[in-house]
Amino acid sequence: MKISVIGTGYVGLATATVFAELGNEVIGADIDKGKIDKLNKGIMPIFEPGLKELVKRNLKEKRLRFTHNNKEAIEHAEVIFICVGTPPKANGETDLKYVEAVAKEIAQSMNSYKIIVHKSTVPVETGEMVKRIVKVNVKQNIDFDIVSNPEFLREGTAIKDTMEPDRIVIGADSKKAIEIMKKLYSQIKAPLVITDIKSAELIKHASNAFLATKISFINAVSQICGLSGANVERVAEGMGYDKRIVRAFLNAGIGYGGFCFPKDIQAFIKIAEKYGYDFQLLKATHNINEEQKLNFIKKVKKVLRNIEDKTIGVLGLSFKPDTDDMRFAPSIFIISELQKENAKIKAYDPEAMEKAKLILNDVEFCTDPYEVAKDADVLLILTEWNEFKEMDIKKIKSLMKKPLIIDGRNIYNPEDMLREGFSYISIGRKDVI
Ligand code: UDX
Repeated sequence: MKISVIGTGYVGLATATVFAELGNEVIGADIDKGKIDKLNKGIMPIFEPGLKELVKRNLKEKRLRFTHNNKEAIEHAEVIFICVGTPPKANGETDLKYVEAVAKEIAQSMNSYKIIVHKSTVPVETGEMVKRIVKVNVKQNIDFDIVSNPEFLREGTAIKDTMEPDRIVIGADSKKAIEIMKKLYSQIKAPLVITDIKSAELIKHASNAFLATKISFINAVSQICGLSGANVERVAEGMGYDKRIVRAFLNAGIGYGGFCFPKDIQAFIKIAEKYGYDFQLLKATHNINEEQKLNFIKKVKKVLRNIEDKTIGVLGLSFKPDTDDMRFAPSIFIISELQKENAKIKAYDPEAMEKAKLILNDVEFCTDPYEVAKDADVLLILTEWNEFKEMDIKKIKSLMKKPLIIDGRNIYNPEDMLREGFSYISIGRKDVI
């Protein structure tokens, strides 16, 4: 099938590449010419495992190409995926200006029947808005259908999640569009949820809100564990065997970050407000997430007493492992709060340092964890990269001023750390000091 994907961020790139891999003729379009030129040469704008190889293969096989000319992409395809950004406005609402602009462009360049699919996370009723924009701007009387087909991929596993999704959601009110979408997805084995457009839009926001709430729930429980001397890991394990609960997303830590959960939770609260519903549960989810970062900072202050002029080593900057994405990473807030009290920050991240350098000021960026540890008063683990789980802990100890680790991701066993001679503070588990 002939497909176009407008917007080549995480979602757009993964969508375009996977549909090309499945044998379709795909054009990926983006207004960023520099990015398009690089993509056509096989240079990726993001770090995402497996993406580069797949893009290169499909470019070579001529199933995939990239353009900065949206018109070309619109004319090419029968199915057009809108994958442009849906950033937050200052008040937390979703800014739909990019979706609106693309809808208008599609209307103006439409040359035959098109299925216009929105994959980006958008508020319920965006499908109706897109339909209105296309109707008003279309030049001739050309037929089209609107589909909501939300994407659930995670950064770091974007290709796998797109190839092997837990489910495929198709929201549409046209039989023709549903049949074409089913055909497009026929090679991917996953339960199909066929529904109306609004329900499909809500499935996405409700799923992200539920997952974020699960994280905040275990983070709240971790506070009780910490105060009572219980172990949050064991609590999560014991809860997780219940088939209705499941262990995934019960990792206590320093709160969720990234470009999805923080903004989607705020957006969903705003959507509810628009309909006159006060989504108190989600407000609590957000507040607990903010508190979790503050509680971590409190731990640092409590153990160091005076932060001024202390050397604080930070391991991990990205919002989670296997990505170089720094957007809404908890590390940004934690580092800036510590800097306010004149702490000296040294940091290392396996992938996110280039992006971190554009955001963080007055940080000494190091080439590995050992350089961070050298003469540090404390090491903070902010992202659970495998590299940190496999560090030579004896070497780390020998380099530090005092062997003290505050682990925001619970990557070590407290007893092991005690045996190694460390003072070790983690989340929702007994401190060993
Ligand atoms: C998320 C959703 O999982 C995905 O379905 C959606 O399409 C986009 O948003 P992503 O932002 O890539 O994906 O990251 P995810 O792996 O879900 O993690 C989000 C945040 O939650 C990270 O900061 C992570 O550290 C945190 N998290 C996750 C926890 O703190 N504890 C957990 O148990 C799981």
